[in-house]
Amino acid sequence: ELADISTLLLSRIRDVADYPEPGVMFKDITPLLADPAAFAALTDALAEIAVATGATKVIGLEARGFILGAPVAVRAGLGFIPVRKAGKLPGATLRQAYDLEYGSAEIEVHAEDLAFGDRILIVDDVLATGGTAEAAIRLVRRAGAEVAGLAVLMELGFLEGRVRLETALAGAPLEAL
Ligand code: PRP
Repeated sequence: ELADISTLLLSRIRDVADYPEPGVMFKDITPLLADPAAFAALTDALAEIAVATGATKVIGLEARGFILGAPVAVRAGLGFIPVRKAGKLPGATLRQAYDLEYGSAEIEVHAEDLAFGDRILIVDDVLATGGTAEAAIRLVRRAGAEVAGLAVLMELGFLEGRVRLETALAGAPLEAL
C-alpha cells in the first residue's frame, strides 16, 4: 500500500532544473497539491504517522510544511504549531539559526505553543541537508517538549540529511513517504 501511495505522490512532483539557482534540481509539489486524490492520500498517510508515533501536536515548517502539516493536524485531531522564518511571530519566541542547501536563516516558534510533556511530530515537504529539521528539533527540545518523529513527503537521499539527523533524532522515527 505504501508503495502505491509513493508511486502516486512521486508522479505528482515536478522536477525543475536550475531553480532557484544553477545546479539545483527543485522539487515542485504544486501539481500534487492541485490533485485532490493525491493531496488526500498524502494527508492520510502523514496523519497515520502522527497517530502511530503518539504525537500530541504537529509542527509545520514554513512555508510548504504549513500546507502539509495543517491538514495532517486536523485529520489526526491534534493542534498545529507553525515554525516560522524569523521576524514573523508577534509573541515571545524561541529562535534557532540553521544552514540551508542554499543560504542560511533563522526559525522561530512561539514559546507558549510548546510545553513540557508535549510530543511533537514535525512535518515538512522535503528533507534535504537536514539543517531546517535539525533546527526545529532543537527548538522542540529547548522548550522541554519531546520529538515524536519527523515526517516528510520526500527525502533527497544523496544529501544525507538522515545521517545528519541521527544524533538529533535520538531514536525518534524519520518517515519519508
Ligand atoms: C525547503 C524545504 C525544507 C527545507 C529543506 O524550504 O521546504 O523546509 O528547505 O532543506 P534542508 O533539509 O537542507 O534544511 P525553504 O527553506 O526553501 O522554505 P520555503 O518552504 O518557505 O520555500
